[in-house]
Order: sequence, then structure tokens, then C-alpha cells
Amino acid sequence: MVKCAVIGCGVIAPTHIEGYQTLPDVKVVHLCDLKLDKAKKLAEKYGVARVSRDYRKVLADPEVDLVSICTDHASHAKLVCAALEAGKNVVCEKSAGRVQADLDKMVAAAAAHPELVASGIFQHRFEPHNIAFRELVRKGRMGKLLTLNMNFSCFRSNDYYRSGSWRGTKRGEGGGVLINQAIHHLDQLRFVFGDVVAVTAKTANLTHQGVIEVEDTAAFILEFESGLFGSCTISNSSPSTWHVSLTVTGDQVFLEYDDEVATFVKAWDAKREQQVRDALTGEKNTASVSGKNYYGAGHIGQLADVVEAVRKHRPPKVTLADAATTSSLVMAIYRSARTGRREEVKRYC
Ligand SMILES: NC(=O)c1ccc[n+]([C@@H]2O[C@H](COP(=O)([O-])OP(=O)(O)OC[C@H]3O[C@@H](n4cnc5c(N)ncnc54)[C@H](O)[C@@H]3O)[C@@H](O)[C@H]2O)c1
Repeated sequence: MVKCAVIGCGVIAPTHIEGYQTLPDVKVVHLCDLKLDKAKKLAEKYGVARVSRDYRKVLADPEVDLVSICTDHASHAKLVCAALEAGKNVVCEKSAGRVQADLDKMVAAAAAHPELVASGIFQHRFEPHNIAFRELVRKGRMGKLLTLNMNFSCFRSNDYYRSGSWRGTKRGEGGGVLINQAIHHLDQLRFVFGDVVAVTAKTANLTHQGVIEVEDTAAFILEFESGLFGSCTISNSSPSTWHVSLTVTGDQVFLEYDDEVATFVKAWDAKREQQVRDALTGEKNTASVSGKNYYGAGHIGQLADVVEAVRKHRPPKVTLADAATTSSLVMAIYRSARTGRREEVKRYC
């Protein structure tokens, strides 16, 4: 039996609790929140035995093997390092950290405890359509990759930002739409197309002035290690709740991919064209979505992987260092927007 705890009992916590509770031989034994009533409410709903206000009680609980960190971005580094030092396996929600120094500390703590599992949540990596896309690229079906363009549009209202004191602040969230929402799609780009070495960016607050200190809009250029060039535009002030469109040009295949389904595929070779279309038009699995639809169905798959990593004493599929590298890409975008220069991405794996 792997026994789990969740620190932070806000919006995302039920997705972790429900994820663990669907897995065989896994039990959630302890919930924690600074606001004890939030922990108590979830404990009652999900039948969890212990609650506490102080995370140190969770880390001192001898029954707990694995801790989910589901708190605001600013607290992730402290909680992850404390969990590892207390001998607990840990999985941290995105963004791994709020600033580069957080990422340095967390990755160093994970490296100092190779006997423990340290993972960062990027649940979309566990969805079949993303795995299929990665395979396609890895097998060279697109040919030599030349350019990609990603537009991500979602909606975050002023009321959303007022719903939590950490949201929309530099100190609490570390950024706006990039570090919180678009980070999922930046991770998908890394997952499918490989690492980004440098970025050139511009950010702005176009519609949330006086409400948030951070960006609601961004445009940037990505230089991938493979030589692929990417351009991205991001907004959280759109009438669409959550929409991502991607255009990819390879020297063998041109692809338009709308909300993660291929909508237009053109290749020199008809057989190759059909292969790409077949791989990228499958139905999405929404049966096991827990939480909002755009959270996708990946949390259960990722938590299952983390639990198996704990049982088998192996690294998780998304190591903390890997998750931190996606957060580091976000940090490089912020740095470039500040300096007005091309900035290199610090990599942790
Ligand atoms: N993977 C996803 O799809 C997804 C979706 C939503 C949120 N998230 C991430 O989950 C994390 C939490 O987001 P949320 O929307 O649930 O936030 P939230 O504000 O709703 O909940 C966070 C909770 O953590 C508690 N908390 C903060 N510091 C604490 C501490 N030291 N000890 C105990 N409790 C503490 C707060 O009181 C609050 O109840 C963020 O990193 C966010 O980016 C991920």
C-alpha cells in the first residue's frame, strides 16, 4: 500500500485525491491546508482520516510515503525541499517554482535524495494524442522540422484573479498566463519537439490593468535545439475558454493541429500524409477527466506513474528536473521580456 498526503486543499487538490483513490493499493491518509476548514471539507468528502494546518505534521507522519504539493507557486520550493529532507517522495504541481532560484533549490534537493521519487506535474504528457505526436516526430514522419507557430487563447477574468491572494502577483504566482496556463502547452512543445535553447519575448498586461501585476499577453520566438524555429502568441483575455492551435512545417509534412486534433495535413507523399492524419485525429479520452475539462485526462496516468516509481524505486516519467526545465523556459521568456534581449534557457536535465 502506498500512502499519500496532499498539501494545499484548493482547486486542484480533488484531482489529486480522486486520482490516487482510483489506483489499486493506494490510500490518501492526510490532508493539509493553512485554512484547516478546507482540509476538513475535503477529508469529509473523500473519507480521509487525518487533517492538519501545518505541513510539518504531514512530513512527520510516519504513515505518509508520498506527498502531493498543491499549493501556490511561491511555496513549492520550500515544501518540496522540506518533503525530501523529511524522507518523503514528492510530486509537485506546476509551475515547479516561481523564480529561477526556486528551481535551482528544488532540483538540488532532488539530486541530493536519489533514493526518493521527485516529480513535477505535467499531466498532458500522459494523454495518448500527445504520446502519438511525440512518436511521429521521433520517427521522423514530419521530415526535417522547420517552423512551428502556436497560438494559445484562454479566459481569466478579474474575478478569477481576485479569488486568491497569490493569483496575478509577482510574489505569489511569479507571472500570469505564461506561468500558470500556457506552461502546459510550452511543456507539450518540449515533450513533442525537444528542448528550447533560447527565446526572444515581449509581454504585456492589456486587459487586467489595476488588477494583476503580471502579463496577460505574450509573444515570443523559440529556438529549439533541433534547429526548429517557433513563434508563439498567448492571451488570457479571449472569448474562448481554452483553445490552442498549432501549425507545423516539416520539409515532408505541413500540419495544422487545432485543439490537439489534426485539421489539415499535406505531404509530398500520400502514404505519409495518411499516417500523420491517422496518428493525430484519434478521439481524445475524456472519460477519466477529473476537474475542469481542459485539465485533460492525464493526472491519473501521471499519479499512477509516480506511485509505480515509488513502488519500484525507479525515476518517474516526469522528473522534477524535467518539470523544472519547462518552468525554466518560462523564466527565460520573462527574462527576455525584461531585458529586451535573446535569453538562453537554463536546463536541469
Ligand atoms: N495541472 C493542472 O491542470 C492544474 C490546474 C489548476 C491548478 N494547478 C496548480 O496547482 C497549484 C494550486 O492551484 P489551485 O488553483 O489549487 O490554488 P488554490 O489557491 O485554490 O489552493 C491552494 C491552497 O494551498 C493552501 N496553502 C498555501 N500554502 C500552504 C502551506 N504552506 N501549507 C498548507 N496549505 C497551503 C492555500 O490555503 C490554498 O487553499 C498551483 O501550482 C497551480 O498552478 C494545476
